Amino acid sequence: MDRPLFQLAPRLRCCALMLRPDRRMADIGTDHAYLPIWAIRQGMTSYAIASDINSGPLDAARRNVLRYRTSEKMEIRLSDGLQAFSPDDADDIVVAGMGGELIAKILAGAPWLKSPEKRLILQPMTRAGELRNFLAQEGYLVIKETAVEDGGRIYAVMLVCYDGAPVSTDKLYPYIGKVTAETPQGRRYLQSCCAMLQKRAEGMHLEGQEPEALKLFSIAEEIQHLAAVQEDTPLKSV
Ligand SMILES: C[S@@+](CC[C@H](N)C(=O)[O-])C[C@H]1O[C@@H](n2cnc3c(N)ncnc32)[C@H](O)[C@@H]1O
Repeated sequence: MDRPLFQLAPRLRCCALMLRPDRRMADIGTDHAYLPIWAIRQGMTSYAIASDINSGPLDAARRNVLRYRTSEKMEIRLSDGLQAFSPDDADDIVVAGMGGELIAKILAGAPWLKSPEKRLILQPMTRAGELRNFLAQEGYLVIKETAVEDGGRIYAVMLVCYDGAPVSTDKLYPYIGKVTAETPQGRRYLQSCCAMLQKRAEGMHLEGQEPEALKLFSIAEEIQHLAAVQEDTPLKSV
């Protein structure tokens, strides 16, 4: 009999909910492989490749695959980013739990991702703005972006595909992407961006960088306004 399935952390669960059930997925930087194991057991993907640059995490991943009996529909692969992958390996590619710059570097190393068949599910821990700018410059379209709360912190999860068309962005975009204040989590994301920008602007002000500080204060104010406007309207649940 199958071992009862574990609870997946909200951050990874949010990624899993963006998978297409009839497609193969790859989890890049899988660590323990909880996300692909959970997705296989829940029927959210047809086949999963759990991959990591380090062999230590892959040993743990291998043990978990055996423990949760998903080996028939899973493969464990050592790879730096997508270097050991070919386009036929997977259509849904998850890169979660890394910095936005590293995620951008991993995507830049695999130009075959620029196909309408492929979907990227990206969850940066830091520097989400760098990742958003990279995606816009490279012609990747963010189909949707969801804010999720996990362990007292708030994260953005992006569902992305290649569009090829130039993506137009405004000055708020690197900070908030497509997150809106329609959900409590979205509102929290905007509030946390606003607090981060105000702190950065105060630092610049103290260092005498007045024009830069004013620019950031003004962006923070606009984001605060977006979050506050929504406070007057009923919240949607996630
Ligand atoms: C913090 S863990 C994230 C694990 C899981 N994806 C999550 O979100 O909980 C980061 C993992 O990425 C792996 N990693 C770092 N750089 C990588 C790269 N260039 N290619 C593949 N994996 C990488 C690390 O070995 C580590 O297991």
